[in-house]
Order: sequence, then structure tokens, then C-alpha cells
Amino acid sequence: MIAGQESELILKLQQQIDASAGITFAEFMEQALYSPDDGYYTSKRTRIGKKGDFFTSSSVHSCFGQLIARQLEQMWRILGQDSFVVAEQGAGEGYLCLDILDALEKDFPEFYARLEYRLIELSPDNRHRQKQLLKSHLAAGRILWCELEDLKDMQGCIISNELIDAFPVHLIEKHAGELQEVYVVNGENGFAEELRPVSTALINEYFQRIGIEPAAGNRCEVNLAACDWMQRVAAVLGRGFVLTIDYGFLAEELYAPYRHTGTLLCYHQHQTNENPYQRVGLQDITAHVDFTSLQAVGCQYGLETLYFGQQYQFLMGLGFLEMLMEMECRETDPQKAQALRMNLKTLILPEGGMGESFKVLVQGKNISAPELLCAKRIQDIKIPPGSF
Ligand SMILES: C[S@@+](CC[C@H](N)C(=O)[O-])C[C@H]1O[C@@H](n2cnc3c(N)ncnc32)[C@H](O)[C@@H]1O
Repeated sequence: MIAGQESELILKLQQQIDASAGITFAEFMEQALYSPDDGYYTSKRTRIGKKGDFFTSSSVHSCFGQLIARQLEQMWRILGQDSFVVAEQGAGEGYLCLDILDALEKDFPEFYARLEYRLIELSPDNRHRQKQLLKSHLAAGRILWCELEDLKDMQGCIISNELIDAFPVHLIEKHAGELQEVYVVNGENGFAEELRPVSTALINEYFQRIGIEPAAGNRCEVNLAACDWMQRVAAVLGRGFVLTIDYGFLAEELYAPYRHTGTLLCYHQHQTNENPYQRVGLQDITAHVDFTSLQAVGCQYGLETLYFGQQYQFLMGLGFLEMLMEMECRETDPQKAQALRMNLKTLILPEGGMGESFKVLVQGKNISAPELLCAKRIQDIKIPPGSF
């Protein structure tokens, strides 16, 4: 963009702000990410991978999807090996879907033949990318795109990876004992912030539900869209599971007093920054997920928490180490074997990796409390000595 020439998206936002005398940050973020045609997720661009702005676990290695396929197959057996829907919302490029379906076709053909994979995707650009990547499974009649509400009474599993961190969030601060909300206004030098009373009582209810209040002077995010989503998911699922993977914390840690400025972060070409008012529509904006609220809302609407853990525990339980060893053994070039090991470790390492910051939540509806494969304890995993 030439200096002084504003993008259409910025002009639209400025008009919206003028018309409403200021908009909440959540409304600003919604437009920046999802404005039809020119939002970050709706425009034509490469977002995920080396040439994009960030990596996701499913873009790191197909082993992520292969391990999740094992968990889905066990869920299918728990539900009686009947027809089974996997509904993935926010599939990005479609890597996870591809890796799951490839693995099921190869290792569990009976399940593959009975499976209906449904993709729920808001971005037309991503839907197009998914159709390109998933051609073979599309031709095999396994995949359809739909809306969440089309799946009413479904039996199976609703799955997402890094969906909820991409929902618009309200920015909240507490001053003089009162919750206040960040509004975006048109300032002299571009977008500016103003603190006002909260836009909806749902924000107070949100903190009452988790029994926590932000510390005085701190800023934090409230993801009301996540609570709404959880309620809709619970309403749609007839019997089965919800498998949610994302970075985040339980509320106590997310709203801990030492977290002064919250977790809002922008991604552009693999660099992070904390300024959502620059590169509007050209950079991703995200916030960490509150897994306490997800569980509490789920529970309110009939979803019982079956598993909650860190991504490394989840993947280890599903056989990550054994899979890594098998892959390494098959690789005859030592340099390639080393590269493979480094790549896969990204999925489980705590620092600089995705192992600890990412959490996995499995909820169930109308099932008893099954012993899930992913819940296998690390001390029960048998690794031959000297393997690492
Ligand atoms: C960070 S990407 C997730 C990437 C992908 N799951 C992966 O593993 O690589 C977020 C995705 O969620 C989609 N999305 C965001 N809000 C959505 C909604 N309400 N319904 C469906 N998709 C949504 C975006 O278009 C994008 O495809």
C-alpha cells in the first residue's frame, strides 16, 4: 500500500466506526479477520506454512493427523462401529483432514468406508484450498462442506485445531473496581483506543462463571464467541465427542495477575507483534483460549470433560514416540533421519515447540466415561532402552 492510500478494508472500518461512534475491539477484529473478500482469512493469500505467516501442528508433519486418526478409530469403536461423522471446523488448508483420511484409508479401511467427513469453513479461499488438497477423498465420496447446524443430532466427533484462537475477542480492563472494555475509534493518526463500560452483561457473567476477576490495571481478552460456539456444538451433537486442540490455559493461569497485557498477538511472515492496528487484513490476530470456560459451558449444555491435557501428553498417549522410532528406522539417510526427528519434536517440545502451550480437550455427550487411548500415562509407554 502506498503511504496515505488506505485499503478498502480500513476505509470500511473507519466508516463503521464513524457510524457507530466507536466499535468494540471484538467488532474490529471480526472485520480485520473475516470481512468478506478482504479480511485476513477471507482474502486470497497463503497463511499457513513456510511461505505464510505461521505453522500449525498439522502443517508440521502428517504424524499429527495419523495419531489423531487412531483416536477417532477408537471413538468409532466406542460408539458401536456404526455410521460416524467427523466434523472439522476451521480446517485451514485441509492438512489435518488429509492426514486423517489417508491414515484411516490405509490402516482402518472398514472405518474409512463408514465415515462421513464434514468440513465447516467460513473462508471461501480456504474452502477452495481444501477442495484442491482433498481431491482424492472428495472423489471417494468421503467429504462434504456444510454448516454446523446442518449436523443436528450427529453421531461422531466434532474436531478443531486452532479454530477458537481465531475467534474475535473482547478486550477488557479493570479500573476502580469496574470492568471496562476497549473500543476502537478514529484518532488523528489512525485507529485509537478508548475505554468504556462493557458492551454486554455477558462479559460480567463470563467472569462470574469462572469465579475469577481480572487484576486491577491488567488487560485481558474475553472470547464470548468461544462460549457461544461451545453451546452450539453441544446442541448439534447427538452422541459422541468434541476434540478441541488450541493454545491456551485454564482460567486461573490465563487471568493470572502477572499477565499484565493479556495474550493478544499478531502474526505476519513468522514474526509476532502486539499491534492489531497495523497491516489490517494482512496479518493474523489471535488470543489464547480459556479452557475453563469451554469446559464450564460444555458441561452446562450436556458435554462432559473426558480428557484435558497438554499436546505432548496427548500425542505420546497415542503412540508418538513409537511412530517417531518407526519412521526413523525406515529412513536410511542419517541427515534426513535427524531432520525428521527435529521436525517431529516441534510437536512435543515445551520451549519453542507446541508441546506445552497447546492443550487438548475431549468432551463427550451421551456416552459413559470411556478410557481414551490419548489418556495413556507417559510412565506406561514402553520404549526400548537407548532409543533416544
Ligand atoms: C488458524 S486457522 C486453523 C488451521 C487449521 N485447523 C490447521 O490445523 O492448519 C483458523 C481457521 O478457522 C477458520 N474459521 C474461523 N472462524 C470460523 C468459523 N466461525 N467457522 C468456520 N471456520 C472458521 C478460518 O477461516 C481458518 O480456516
